[in-house]
Amino acid sequence: MLLDLKLPGMDGLETLGRLKELDGSIEVVMLSALDSAEQAVSSLRKGAYDYITKPFDGDELIATLSRLSEGLKLKSEIEFLKEELKERNGLRYLNGEMISRSPAMRKVFGLMQAVSRTSSGVLITGESGTGKELVARAIHFMSDRREKPFVAVNCGAVPSELMESELFGHERGAFTGAHQRKIGKFEHSDTGTLFLDEVSTLPMHLQIKLLRVLQERSFERVGSNSSIRIDIRVIAASNARLEDEVAAGRFREDLFYRLKVVPIELPPLRERKEDVPLLVEHFLEKLSKKCGKRVEGVHPEVIRAFMDYGWPGNIRELENLMERLVVLAPEGGLIRGDDLPMGMMALADDAAPGKELTLDFKDAVKAFERRYIKGALDKASWNRAETARALKIHRNTLLLKMRELGIKGPGSAPPRE
Ligand SMILES: Nc1ncnc2c1ncn2[C@@H]1O[C@H](COP(=O)(O)OP(=O)(O)OP(=O)(O)O)[C@@H](O)[C@H]1O
Ligand SMILES: [Mg+2]
Repeated sequence: MLLDLKLPGMDGLETLGRLKELDGSIEVVMLSALDSAEQAVSSLRKGAYDYITKPFDGDELIATLSRLSEGLKLKSEIEFLKEELKERNGLRYLNGEMISRSPAMRKVFGLMQAVSRTSSGVLITGESGTGKELVARAIHFMSDRREKPFVAVNCGAVPSELMESELFGHERGAFTGAHQRKIGKFEHSDTGTLFLDEVSTLPMHLQIKLLRVLQERSFERVGSNSSIRIDIRVIAASNARLEDEVAAGRFREDLFYRLKVVPIELPPLRERKEDVPLLVEHFLEKLSKKCGKRVEGVHPEVIRAFMDYGWPGNIRELENLMERLVVLAPEGGLIRGDDLPMGMMALADDAAPGKELTLDFKDAVKAFERRYIKGALDKASWNRAETARALKIHRNTLLLKMRELGIKGPGSAPPRE
């Protein structure tokens, strides 16, 4: 805006002040007579971009305006970069700590980013070890509440009689044994995020209380009548499908809907096998650092076995196994199939929970035999006599089995005699 200092009714300085209050992003260039230079300078203090003294020529005006437009461009670029940096940090958090390339998890990342900009309730469901707590923490750290407390409560780990005071706190003398005032988790998480893990195990009477807090944003300590207002975001997590708990009458339906404003479902690892190699890399790096040990890498046969396995314990199971493998691996060496727990190399995981049976019994046995015999041959560098001895079968039986099962040799190489 080009604004003259001398105006009828309200002078330029006051107009400038009101304008800036209305919308700080409007840039103003003041026009002033030579004798009001002092006022022109004070207009700069009030947020004007520049001033031009009258009389002025066209070139002078154009020069000032193009400086202004350059300045505006720079300002918006800086704003943009600032935003991007924030975004990147958020993503770095996701990419650094949470590994995934599967489309299902990409969708989850998108949801996490969207919900991190709000204070809406989030309900995270997924099998054990799928990363529910990690997702809850990531949402907190991507949100504006990141500098405020993140308080996690495992609803299943606290005995039901103690849970109420654990959550809401109590006043001194509220019940026998309450020698001191106690601040509960709700109060501790004020202005931050409260993570209610295993929420399905919350007893009925506390479900009612929780619902009230979520609706009224206030609660009372046990043994007190004065309400305490709080500002929290609640993220709940559950292994069990809460719909089923509701249907079975163990979980309040109204609370279920309150919690699940934004539902996030984490797919089990067996449904995102493409993440297995990435996670192996990630854990290898993380765990070899933790164990102070250099490990060369993982043999492709291990990755193959991992891709076949069902991972009932999901990412936690993979992480724990990788830790064991890193600890046991030779310094500077490779993690090999031999290091895997019994059965993992050989057993088809068709019977793993949640997986559809694709083989009938005979084919499953054949698949097992094929892998088992191949594994044994690999270990003996394809020396058949040695393999037969290790398997405690006659050499002819081994040859017969190999023909029957179509086992020819390592890769496409012809078998050695
Ligand atoms: N996408 C991922 N990338 C890297 N690590 C992950 C990922 N998901 C989970 N993890 C790791 O796997 C482990 C289990 O995750 P987490 O504790 O969040 O699972 P959970 O769903 O809460 O399990 P539970 O139901 O058993 O409590 C953690 O060590 C976590 O850091
Ligand atoms: Mg957990």
